[in-house]
Amino acid sequence: MPEPLIFELSSENRRGVSLPEPDVPTSPVADLLPQEDLRETPPALPEVSEVDVVRHYTRLSTMNYHPDRAMYPLGSCTMKHNPRVNEDVAALPGFSRLHPLQPDDTCQGAIRLLVELSAYLTEISGMDGVTLQPAAGAQGELTGLMMIKAYHEHRGDGRKKVVIPDSAHGTNPASVSLVGYDTIQIPTNSQGLVNTDHLASIMDEEVAAFMLTNPNTLGLFESDIRKIARIVHDAGALLYMDGANMNAILGLTRPGDMGFDVVHFNLHKTFSTPHGGGGPGAGPVGVKGDLVDYLPTPIPALVDGKYLFESDRPKSIGRIRSFPGSFGMMVRAYAYIRTNGPDGLRQVSENAILNANYIMRRLERLYPRTVMLHGAQTETAIPIEVPCQHEFVASGTRFKAYGIKTLDIAKRLLDYGFFAPTIYFPLIVPEAIMIEPTETESQESLDQFIEAMEAIAREARENSDLVKNAPHTTPIGRLDEARAAHPKTMNLRYKQD
Ligand SMILES: Cc1ncc(COP(=O)(O)O)c(C=O)c1O
Repeated sequence: MPEPLIFELSSENRRGVSLPEPDVPTSPVADLLPQEDLRETPPALPEVSEVDVVRHYTRLSTMNYHPDRAMYPLGSCTMKHNPRVNEDVAALPGFSRLHPLQPDDTCQGAIRLLVELSAYLTEISGMDGVTLQPAAGAQGELTGLMMIKAYHEHRGDGRKKVVIPDSAHGTNPASVSLVGYDTIQIPTNSQGLVNTDHLASIMDEEVAAFMLTNPNTLGLFESDIRKIARIVHDAGALLYMDGANMNAILGLTRPGDMGFDVVHFNLHKTFSTPHGGGGPGAGPVGVKGDLVDYLPTPIPALVDGKYLFESDRPKSIGRIRSFPGSFGMMVRAYAYIRTNGPDGLRQVSENAILNANYIMRRLERLYPRTVMLHGAQTETAIPIEVPCQHEFVASGTRFKAYGIKTLDIAKRLLDYGFFAPTIYFPLIVPEAIMIEPTETESQESLDQFIEAMEAIAREARENSDLVKNAPHTTPIGRLDEARAAHPKTMNLRYKQD
């Protein structure tokens, strides 16, 4: 049975709570608010009992996939377990009941948490300063690029371009356009890494920055990173690290030591804060050297024994987010860093790498890793041999012989109880399937996932319709991918006739 809307469960005068009469004198609302702002009819809200609400949302939660239900191997978008201790800490009344406009004197502990989290992220990344304000990785990119632009402009340097590899996440060129720079795309080499000769050949005094994800979106560590940093800096440009994949390098290496000038973190991917639903997230940005002067204000700081927000930074790009950012996310990330400590964080990355390589090696015969080389005349898929980092991108091309696309394989995984991995990204891998198990999965769950992928490969050969028409066990079957995402056909609003 499809689940009704909560409005359809509504029954007149049914109540979910019974509140006592107020024990303080109150004026009628009409006396307190301007007449023109008072509504004439009550809002059309569902009238339901508490048990109706609990059961409705519990039923809905079991109809969907989430990391609390099973492994969620979504490469690039990292869905790892969110430790419950983070939630306990974030729910402490001293954090959860704060008002962002409270005077600093009354929330010294909260500002201290921001100062200490900034210090931890600075140390983990090897940078010189951090802003916690951005609301997501993509806003972190925008903030980092705004600082890069301000830095060049203060030096009277009118650079116009940002270089990006063809494996980059789509948010990278979008952020470049938002700050008013042009994107120059460079091809990946046959090992899935930056083609350094090509990079050197296009660097000139017009390039403001090179934006690189490391490990890159193929899940490979850019082993020429020091050479890349030299090429970029010799041209007077800055090196930006998209740190979405920091969960592969915690305690193993640091962007600041590799030569990066700017890095953004995705707290939800690396530091286990909840991800999804469009936010609120957090995408702090770390910077090196002179770029510290450009960090957004206000900046949480400890001055003469008092925690406060500093605003007196003449070169700052200013505020880019309301209040200090998504505070609840920061409490969770702080709890995660403190519970793991330096050795624990290193182990997080080591386990993430081990888990990804385990799956990759066991599946590579059926789902090999390849990268498309875009040549002048031909496009050739070249196999990748080196170990991966925390994720890998396999190719589903061999199943094309049975009329099966990567999309079908992803849909069939839903029937096996796994959320579908990221597919068709990055674009340089034909029929791409991007798999990221994360460090939180046990060997048993990795084995179950591998067995499901093997079973699907068998089905593709022996009963391809089963795969082509998947999923068969979900509340809703195969959607029309284009129409499902089309804003004009989506109907998300309940309207009473
Ligand atoms: C490599 C990379 N860069 C940037 C982003 C954007 O991050 P966010 O989703 O927090 O905006 C992502 C998100 O998946 C990513 O994988």
